[in-house]
Amino acid sequence: MSQNQFDKKSQGWSALFSEPMSDLVKRYTSSVFFDKRLWQADITGSLAHAEMLATQGIISRQDLADIERGLAQITADIEAGAFEWKLDLEDVHLNIEARLTQLVGDAGKRLHTGRSRNDQVATDVRLWLRGEIDLINTLLIDLQTSLLEVAEKHVEVILPGFTHLQVAQPISFGHHMLAYVEMFSRDAERMAEVRQRVNRLPLGAAALAGTSYPLDRERVAKTLGMVDATGQPQVCQNSLDAVSDRDFAIEFAAAASLCMVHISRLSEELIIWMSQNFGFIKIADRFTTGSSIMPQKKNPDVPELARGKTGRVVGHLMGLITLMKGQPLAYNKDNQEDKEPLFDTVDTLKDTLRIFSEMVGGQFNPATGQKEGGISVNAEAMERAALKGYATATDLADYLVKKGLPFRDAHETVAHAVKAAVTHQVDLSELPLAVLQEFNPTIEKDVFDVLSLRGSLNTRNVLGGTAPRQVRLQIARHRQRLA
Ligand code: ARG
Repeated sequence: MSQNQFDKKSQGWSALFSEPMSDLVKRYTSSVFFDKRLWQADITGSLAHAEMLATQGIISRQDLADIERGLAQITADIEAGAFEWKLDLEDVHLNIEARLTQLVGDAGKRLHTGRSRNDQVATDVRLWLRGEIDLINTLLIDLQTSLLEVAEKHVEVILPGFTHLQVAQPISFGHHMLAYVEMFSRDAERMAEVRQRVNRLPLGAAALAGTSYPLDRERVAKTLGMVDATGQPQVCQNSLDAVSDRDFAIEFAAAASLCMVHISRLSEELIIWMSQNFGFIKIADRFTTGSSIMPQKKNPDVPELARGKTGRVVGHLMGLITLMKGQPLAYNKDNQEDKEPLFDTVDTLKDTLRIFSEMVGGQFNPATGQKEGGISVNAEAMERAALKGYATATDLADYLVKKGLPFRDAHETVAHAVKAAVTHQVDLSELPLAVLQEFNPTIEKDVFDVLSLRGSLNTRNVLGGTAPRQVRLQIARHRQRLA
């Protein structure tokens, strides 16, 4: 293909075609308006490939120098917003290559030696996603830190713990926050594991079968930082698999979906807690909106949207996994459809993590050196609620077990006591000792130590339990882990 034909037809591949593409088909098949986002990865990959081609004597040192000069110019133009992206040139790869050839001539045309857009795009997506995973992991640390700070301040605050959304047992609010720290720490673990499989090099697979040029794929992998923990290069070992599978993107979307599901559960709790009927917490006004008709309202838009956006991310996971299903080996153009869901997953997750860190933990104020405007907790409302639902009934049962009653009998005895308390509209701890003794004569004055919320809390002193002592130990462990 001569330079002339390249220019005239404005396409990266066509000497063979007898008629031009219709505008509709061009629009339908081109991806440049979304995949231009991969430009930096594309240039990074090209530089590593060109350097290796020169080292292997496949292109000259002069070609390499020209390619480097041209790609530096393109980088500067893109950064300055001066690069002209052309729909006619289909995608980010052909746009950059065509411009390079325009800038440096034949050296630009040699860049594609031993390479295909099939291994090129797989490399670009992996490089780009690796960088995004690193950003996401930083954001996950921020969110965990915010939750940890709230936990630390509220170790002694008691709220009802629920099962079936029915009052179950009193718990520490700090403990409740730490449950989410656990979830997000596992999300970070998952991201780190996915990263290992993202960080492998497809380049060198060429179109599908490998290439006849003496490429040094491991060298390229090392240049691109595609190495394992011991510094060993990570190279896709089968050319067909290298260009065709997007399992790494699917895995990422699955990890992102789980993370969003955790966010969504937290959202749901925040929404419930800030409703007037609970009144447990407030979130700062800037995360809420008013109603156009009801002047008294403050709606929890941010948590609600996060809950809604979880559906969107899970949808992208479904889209990506369905995209893969039924594709024969090796590369198919179907795979171009991986980008928009993947990009949107990354954007949605990053924004959501950012906004939640701030909404939960507040924003750093340089004037005071403090974080301000995180969630505020109404400890009295929480304790009042915990006193409502006979949350210490299990504690009474445990007390009777310690007095020698079999647990099942103790459970039954306490059910009677709760019934009596309901009838008299009092808490278990408000029943007189004489009344409690009617249910079981072994009950003594010390029963009131466990019937109080705080007494109940302190008894749950098992590893992972809600006793303040345990919660503090967990906070210290997390602090160390995140340091
Ligand atoms: N834009 C394409 C994609 O996203 C690049 C690879 C095109 N390869 C091809 N043989 N048409 O997958």
